Amino acid sequence: MPTKAVITGIGHAVPPKILTNDDLSKIVDTNDEWITQRTGIKERRITSATETSSTLGTEASQNALMQAGISATDLDLVICGTVTGDMMFPSTSCLIQERIGARNAGALDIGAACAGFIYSLSVASAMIEAGHIRNVLVIGVDTLTKIVDWTDRSTCVLFGDGAGAAVLQASENTDRGIIRTVLMADGTGAPYIKIEAGGGLHPVSNPASLEKSNHIFMAGSEVYRFAVNAMGEACCKVLDEVGLTPDDVDLFVPHQANLRIIDSAAKRLGLPPEKVFVNVHKYGNTSGGSVPIALSEAVSEGRLKPGMIVLTVGFGAGLVWGANLIRW
Ligand code: UT7
Repeated sequence: MPTKAVITGIGHAVPPKILTNDDLSKIVDTNDEWITQRTGIKERRITSATETSSTLGTEASQNALMQAGISATDLDLVICGTVTGDMMFPSTSCLIQERIGARNAGALDIGAACAGFIYSLSVASAMIEAGHIRNVLVIGVDTLTKIVDWTDRSTCVLFGDGAGAAVLQASENTDRGIIRTVLMADGTGAPYIKIEAGGGLHPVSNPASLEKSNHIFMAGSEVYRFAVNAMGEACCKVLDEVGLTPDDVDLFVPHQANLRIIDSAAKRLGLPPEKVFVNVHKYGNTSGGSVPIALSEAVSEGRLKPGMIVLTVGFGAGLVWGANLIRW
């Protein structure tokens, strides 16, 4: 039988500090009713100055390793999906690799924004299936509240901080594991979600860069329209490619950006609410952390059990989108 990449452990970590919609209404011109109706978000977690993507990613990784029952020294590779690394470089995966003691592992970051975990899982499973490596730690983490514009009510209410991590292990003679992934991108949508300053085009060292924003810009309506189509498209494609239908899905774990987007994707797939996992009300949009945090909570709440078919889907800045189909 071919080698499969099986998720043997999953964990997550969020900062303890909670920012509610009422708290936000004291910062910008907004209110709980608007945020709840338009997004489904009630509160989100906010990092302190000393909490970063690497510290959250480390905690989530330790939880995932504990559940998998393997040591960090058993890992061959650490992959981290993030766009809010602690520094431009070194990579956040290297910082996590050092903190957990994964001294036999390589490390790389994947920059696919809110689809970071979907992309990272795809790379990890392909390398395992090809026989190159056997044990991989995949982390999805972001701390977007550090780079949000706290005067822009259309974006600052949406985001929260958090990390999720999964241990993938090679396994033979099993039907469990990553069944299929699809990855898609459309760079013509690059202007819709961006941070202009700080990269090679507008380096911080250049005084002219001061005119460029170092906060998140997002064209909300354009991204909303794209997201509704992208979620459905990626889900249908990944199911089609293996001859399955939405009826075969036991649990749908979509990117937790906006409850309206999640509901419309579920409707397009014809999935009833009991098959859709939602925690956007607690955490907001945690970008790369969103899907693995949801998977981790689904497991701890007993909604995701070995043998079940789970469909994940994500979309984000790039624009990028994709879906994983997994037999848990
Ligand atoms: O992971 C990928 C990240 N991005 C996303 O998933 C975001 C996708 N987009 C969205 O979720 C939605 O577009 C938003 C939640 C961002 C906005 O919802 P919308 O229904 O598209 O609202 P809108 O942008 O069309 O704004 C409607 C009104 C505007 O007022 P006027 O011009 O009609 O008077 C906004 O100024 O709501 C106003 N508004 C707010 N009011 C209270 C915008 N933000 C707020 C706010 N509180 N926080």
